[in-house]
Amino acid sequence: MCAYVIEGGRKLSGSVAVHGAKNSVLPILAACLLAPGTCVIENCPRLSDVEASLAILRRLGCRAERQGEAVVVDATAPTGWEVPDRLMREMRSSVIFLGAILGRMGQAKLCAPGGCELGPRPIDLHLGAIRTLGGRVKELGGCLTCSGRLQGTDLVLSLPSVGATENAMLAAVCAQGTTTITNAAREPEIVDLQGFLQAMGARVQGAGSSVITIEGGHPLHGCTYAVMGDRIVAATYLSAAAAAGGSVEVTGVDWRTLSTVTAVLKEAGCQVRSGRDQIWLQTDGPLKGVRPIRTAPYPGFPTDAQAPVMAALAGGSGCTVFVENMFDSRYRHVDELIRMGADIRVEGRVAVVYGVSPLHGASVVASDLRGGAALVVAALGARGESTVTGLHHMDRGYQSLEDDLHALGASIRRVENLKKS
Ligand code: EPZ
Repeated sequence: MCAYVIEGGRKLSGSVAVHGAKNSVLPILAACLLAPGTCVIENCPRLSDVEASLAILRRLGCRAERQGEAVVVDATAPTGWEVPDRLMREMRSSVIFLGAILGRMGQAKLCAPGGCELGPRPIDLHLGAIRTLGGRVKELGGCLTCSGRLQGTDLVLSLPSVGATENAMLAAVCAQGTTTITNAAREPEIVDLQGFLQAMGARVQGAGSSVITIEGGHPLHGCTYAVMGDRIVAATYLSAAAAAGGSVEVTGVDWRTLSTVTAVLKEAGCQVRSGRDQIWLQTDGPLKGVRPIRTAPYPGFPTDAQAPVMAALAGGSGCTVFVENMFDSRYRHVDELIRMGADIRVEGRVAVVYGVSPLHGASVVASDLRGGAALVVAALGARGESTVTGLHHMDRGYQSLEDDLHALGASIRRVENLKKS
């Protein structure tokens, strides 16, 4: 069994560069399908979710291969429009391919992604957007069959869903006529996707605001594009520095994309300074409790940072209330933090964290991507040794978690065959 073995209590120091953003590169890889040409995606992170996306592109008849820190996708002549169940199960966010496949191929077939560790992951907004654009969608036995020529129109999302916004953008690029998406998600990753689509020759405007306008039907071509830095990886590393103490600089990320997170860490007693594409954090005392943290669509506090920040505060002093508004089951890391001595009470969407400084090492199990990263954050600040298993969750979204933290002075190593205790 693969595990991290972490000896906590060591301060972190130094500088770490974050890799390209997982939640930006996944829709961008799907968007590569739209252009009859070759796209070079620079700063493409080495993640299992990226490998899953490349496998889907190859299955659709594209050439997709890694070249150093870039990935090259040639979608000159795709031949397929079906994403097999096996690949859908490997990565539930594969639903992001729906709009691109339908737009390029005129038909699409994939299995509904189903739920995940965060709870049910409905796609009704995705399907509603495709139908409003003129796509015929049949749902049978968990399989989705879509077809039809897409027509530009005015779309309204009942929720600013990130994935539904991205699917609608990719489908609308191929639709005839103009599409507006109202109540669009405003995440920085949507702005990055717009930048990529514009580099392909698509007419897309408004990303980052609640109304995005797409003039469909324009000819598209291959391009070269560098993916933005991963703001959640940056938030994770800053949470680790806050938990362990020390002085750390995180580079390669726009500080404005995680200002709600740095504001919380500042309120907890950390010194935080930001530059054009770097953030510096220093702390040497236990973190204080902060005002309630409510997760929300961007520019609110990101749900993906809830677990790492909670892990840092759980090892501090003082009380913090969390309200998780985005997903039904995003407190699965709490029981594992309690095994490390944390004092956290969960009631529905609310988690009340009473800081215990310091936490103590324990054997804990990751059950989702950001919850697993949170256990690493807590272990770095705890006294004694921790083992963290379930690393396949972290491998989905962190390119080199153990190497980066080790370079900052953490005592962390990846053990391939930890004996079951
Ligand atoms: C994206 O997921 C991210 N994933 C998630 O990051 C992130 O937590 C989430 O956005 C919110 O920021 C990727 O980008 C690959 P949503 P997505 O659609 O698109 C409900 C990580 O850790 N909803 O904005 O699935 C949904 O149930 C991952 O990197 C519907 O009801 O999120 C949720 O409650 C985890 N119907 C809310 O909207 C729909 O059709 C927000 O979901 C779609 C969503």
